[in-house]
Amino acid sequence: MRIQKFMAKCGVASRRKSEELIRQGLVEVNGQVITEPGLKIDPDKDLVKVNNKKIKLESKKVYIMLNKPLGYVTSLKDEKNRRVVTDLIDGVRERIYPVGRLDIDTTGLLLLTNDGDLTYRLTHPSNEVVKRYIAVVEGVPNKRELESFRQGLLIDGKKTAKAYIKILRSFEDESILDIRIHEGRNRQVRKMCEAINHPVKKLKRVAIGELELGDLHVGNWRFLTEEEIAYLKSL
Ligand code: URA
Repeated sequence: MRIQKFMAKCGVASRRKSEELIRQGLVEVNGQVITEPGLKIDPDKDLVKVNNKKIKLESKKVYIMLNKPLGYVTSLKDEKNRRVVTDLIDGVRERIYPVGRLDIDTTGLLLLTNDGDLTYRLTHPSNEVVKRYIAVVEGVPNKRELESFRQGLLIDGKKTAKAYIKILRSFEDESILDIRIHEGRNRQVRKMCEAINHPVKKLKRVAIGELELGDLHVGNWRFLTEEEIAYLKSL
């Protein structure tokens, strides 16, 4: 591939502009400055630097939804050798990583992508996207407990933002709750339920904004649709 085409594909600049950069002596191939556009390079073998920075081909962006099972961690590697969520994604060559975290004992909707911009935006604390969870908790929260959950609770010395909580079903010694929060603090739902004295027994994330897990089975994954990707980018 000609060097200026390679540079354009790497997102450095247009081909014309790349030719200029080459003439200005800003481009190195395998440690040697080149000044003539047109040189052919092998994208897999040659090391190309522009302004002293290595460039590489942009990989295709992929967006995946996984129904995370219990027992998997959302880091890329685990020092305790536990199973990681990317073990579940087969046949995808791009290096994808999880968007945010789910606890090892939480199931449900997890996004994985190689789109760093989107990950940054979705996980930034200023982002208000609502995450919806179904929680099975011990006991049945009373009105006062529900209200304090809604108004915000002190966890780890800091008050949580307003939240949504509704009892979907209640039994003698446990209840099923619909919980929606837009923050992403560590083990936040568990800590909030603990703070109202109804510890979580089971936790599943079912939606991120309007993106829903639907009937995707535990351990299964699928690519997001164009509309879903456009929606996430609009957030
Ligand atoms: N809140 C939790 O406590 N755990 C999760 O995995 C996600 C939100």
